[in-house]
Amino acid sequence: KGHFTFDPGFLATASCESAITYIDGAQGILLHRGYAIDELAVESDYLDLCYLLLYGELPTKAQYDKFVYTVKTHTMVNEQLASFFRGFRRDAHPMAMLCGVTGALSAFYQDSLDVNDEHHREIAAFRLVSKMPTIAAMCYKYSIGQPFIYPRNDLSYAGNFLSMMFAVPCEEYKVNPIVERAMDRIFILHADHEQNASTSTVRLAGSSGANPFACIAAGIASLWGPAHGGANEACLNMLEEIGTVDRIPEFIARAKDKDDPFRLMGFGHRVYKNFDPRAKVMRETCHEVLAELKVNDPLLDVAMELERIALEDEYFVSKKLYPNVDFYSGIIMKAIGIPTSMFTVLFALARTVGWIAHWKEMLDQPGHKISRPRQLYTGSPERSFVDLDKRG
Ligand code: CMC
Repeated sequence: KGHFTFDPGFLATASCESAITYIDGAQGILLHRGYAIDELAVESDYLDLCYLLLYGELPTKAQYDKFVYTVKTHTMVNEQLASFFRGFRRDAHPMAMLCGVTGALSAFYQDSLDVNDEHHREIAAFRLVSKMPTIAAMCYKYSIGQPFIYPRNDLSYAGNFLSMMFAVPCEEYKVNPIVERAMDRIFILHADHEQNASTSTVRLAGSSGANPFACIAAGIASLWGPAHGGANEACLNMLEEIGTVDRIPEFIARAKDKDDPFRLMGFGHRVYKNFDPRAKVMRETCHEVLAELKVNDPLLDVAMELERIALEDEYFVSKKLYPNVDFYSGIIMKAIGIPTSMFTVLFALARTVGWIAHWKEMLDQPGHKISRPRQLYTGSPERSFVDLDKRG
């Protein structure tokens, strides 16, 4: 058909060249700039990884300190942004607020909108990585009617986020180090994943020269869907709906029934046809957090049993459907006290650095072009216009 390759869903099309992230889906391997995700999740921290993704190498100690210092000096948002929030209904979904507020950053930070100016690009990148936890926490505080909490630059990136989420004025807030580490790990495991739907959206939006805040807002919109970042929220809702271990077979049967649109959330992946390496780390972290917080969550029993049954079931085995990163992250976040509606917001927060790294990489490539896919037209051939009074 026509002159173009027809590849709906990009099943066999590489949309760009990239040196950031490598995935071998058959082997279950994920590397960032050559470093394995399991090693990074244990040995590194989120800001170390941010530097690696953005600049291509792990930072020296001096580079790391400078990077952390710069991130921390950009954590506050323009005070006017608080008024912007007040335009939202309190019961708005936090992703709706995150998407709107991130897009609106281009109205607040007009000195970093020129994508052809390297300095503007650099400042925009820092602003996004630094302010995303602040904005994410504001979405939560606004939704529960509590005052916004200012960032604390004496804390780590994850610790500061937890403080902005859970501290209340006039009360001391202490960050639990195990929870802080788990939060940081969740950020690490979500930081980048090459050309997924939201990253491709950011690249497509950025290819026209759109400003970085608008591009990241486009990425957030794409991430929200249940087949992508929205899966963590959908997964927890599913575990709650299943409720008890004895109801699992009923849901497994539904997932296999082609006449039923139900799918096991947190299972399957376009690229991984083996265990998602991020899910392995997330599983361990999940146990650590539940033990530390002494949470005896029946949902974990449901999750474990669901995983066991699905991994032995002919349908899931033959289609190579394994638990993905979203399967365990929801249980950890629930144990920490993060409400389900915030799950995808946390994914967006962590993925922002990946989106920016791809956006920068694209703009740095010499002779990059606007992305302009073609189509196979299936509509009517040319025909003559019919006046309104002559139409049957
Ligand atoms: N439950 C039941 N059946 C499934 C599932 C599932 N979770 N996932 C895929 N299948 C079946 C699907 O029905 C199809 O069967 P058939 O070949 O008989 O038509 C086959 O497996 C292939 O599925 P597909 O939809 O063609 O595969 P895809 O690569 O287009 O979709 C996916 C990948 C992640 C959208 C899909 O596996 C899914 O919907 N999973 C549930 C949602 C989810 O957990 N998403 C998070 C992805 S990881 C985090 C992220 O990247 O955001």
